[in-house]
Amino acid sequence: MALRIELNPARVLGTRSKMLYGHFIEHFHRQIYGGLFQPGHPLSDEDGFRTDILEAIRRIQIPILRWPGGCFVSSYHWKDAVGNRRRPSFDKALRVEDPNTFGTDEYLRLCRKLGCEPYICTNAGTGTAEEMSDWVEYCNLETEGQWARDRIENGHLQPYGVRYWSIGNENYSHWEIGAKSASEWGHLVRESAKMMKHVDPTIQLSAAALSDPAWNLNLLQHAGPFLDWISIHEYWDMMPETQNPATYEQCMAFTDQMDHSIREVRGMLAALRLEGKIRIAFDEWNLRSWHHPNVHTIQQGVGRDSFLTPRDKNDDNTLYTMADAVFTACFLNALHRHCDVVGMANFAPILNTRGCIYSWDGGIVLRSTYHVFDLYVNHLGDTVIDLFTGPVPTMVVPHKLGGERTVDCLDLLATTFSDHPGIAIAAVNRDPDRPHALSIPLDRPTSLTVLTLNGESKDAFNDVNCTGVKVTRQDLGLHDHEIEIALPAHSVSIIRIG
Ligand code: AHR
Repeated sequence: MALRIELNPARVLGTRSKMLYGHFIEHFHRQIYGGLFQPGHPLSDEDGFRTDILEAIRRIQIPILRWPGGCFVSSYHWKDAVGNRRRPSFDKALRVEDPNTFGTDEYLRLCRKLGCEPYICTNAGTGTAEEMSDWVEYCNLETEGQWARDRIENGHLQPYGVRYWSIGNENYSHWEIGAKSASEWGHLVRESAKMMKHVDPTIQLSAAALSDPAWNLNLLQHAGPFLDWISIHEYWDMMPETQNPATYEQCMAFTDQMDHSIREVRGMLAALRLEGKIRIAFDEWNLRSWHHPNVHTIQQGVGRDSFLTPRDKNDDNTLYTMADAVFTACFLNALHRHCDVVGMANFAPILNTRGCIYSWDGGIVLRSTYHVFDLYVNHLGDTVIDLFTGPVPTMVVPHKLGGERTVDCLDLLATTFSDHPGIAIAAVNRDPDRPHALSIPLDRPTSLTVLTLNGESKDAFNDVNCTGVKVTRQDLGLHDHEIEIALPAHSVSIIRIG
């Protein structure tokens, strides 16, 4: 029995910022060194960037790229990585040497090549308000002061105009270098924000937050007047110490209440009358947490095999299946539903580790999540409209932490386009085993196209020598009456109407 849907383009729920399709890259494992930045590699350009990776990133039109961390940033000193005298530093957060050959100027050159906004996360762990505001001077002042002059001496005559800045990463957490108490945090953010905005009052500032009311209340009461964004992070399938991935069904259980952090922070903003002034930047998210034993714990490990070698396990492409694609599509749908308060989101990370692109010496692999971004960015509209359905079929799935969850088999989002006619529906079928059909009423001859991301099984994946997940296209031609659209099991579809 097909699920009949009614579309109401007249009822607009919101216009999403393209920054919901943002990404994140960190100085971790092979994301930058040995990944995107490989000077001298046969596939690299004159600036040392892998051209095959650049091209794949351009195709998903990333609007913003957050850098340099993440936990890495909480003991990072940006001045070590500009100018002609780059000396390596030992990264005490992630416990490896950083050659500092990739720094602010290389990052901003990368953003220019990608055509995306830079988003710099500053060191609020061991760093100071002065170091953060000096960074703004280096990037954004014309000629005033020593740091702008240094930028000019380093060959960059014009200011970069970096608009988006974050104060700190997850300084609320015990695993972060230079972790802070709630009261320390509110004070540090206010003093840092003051100095950064005294340098350039046009910048937009975010600060690390939680969905924890006490932490956020203190932050917003101390620093709210200086902030434009509040930053929250979430990973659902937690594997920092042991790589024991959730099954497909368990991943579907994670989609239950997946927007709880947004709802909690939204409520806090409303209570403090900050809705409309401060928006949410969900600036790290991924179904799978990164695997790096003995970093986020008091057990520090001893040899490479206890805390460095295991990081290679993130590169196992068999892990990134249709579960990741279906989860990612469901979360993008949730972000769209909250687009009035969520203005930015950054998939963590874009390359290698749990990224949507995997690189190896001979090329790249587009993991299942890459194709979700490709479909959404290139085929979904920017205006979220209301969509009515009858009762959606449900399924009971096991939760990785025990118990069960009941979730809808389908997750549907309807959109229109602000710059041309037509409707696009993101239709996700979470069901691991059964197809489900939609019935779409049409009152005039209308063209229909369906793009479906799927694999032979729910556990299908892409790897160097196999393509188990791909997008198929069906051009259904003109229809002027009700039409049924089949949604295969464990699939993500975009239905283009008109
Ligand atoms: O596991 C990677 C880490 O996840 C990022 O560095 C940090 O921001 C988050 O805790």
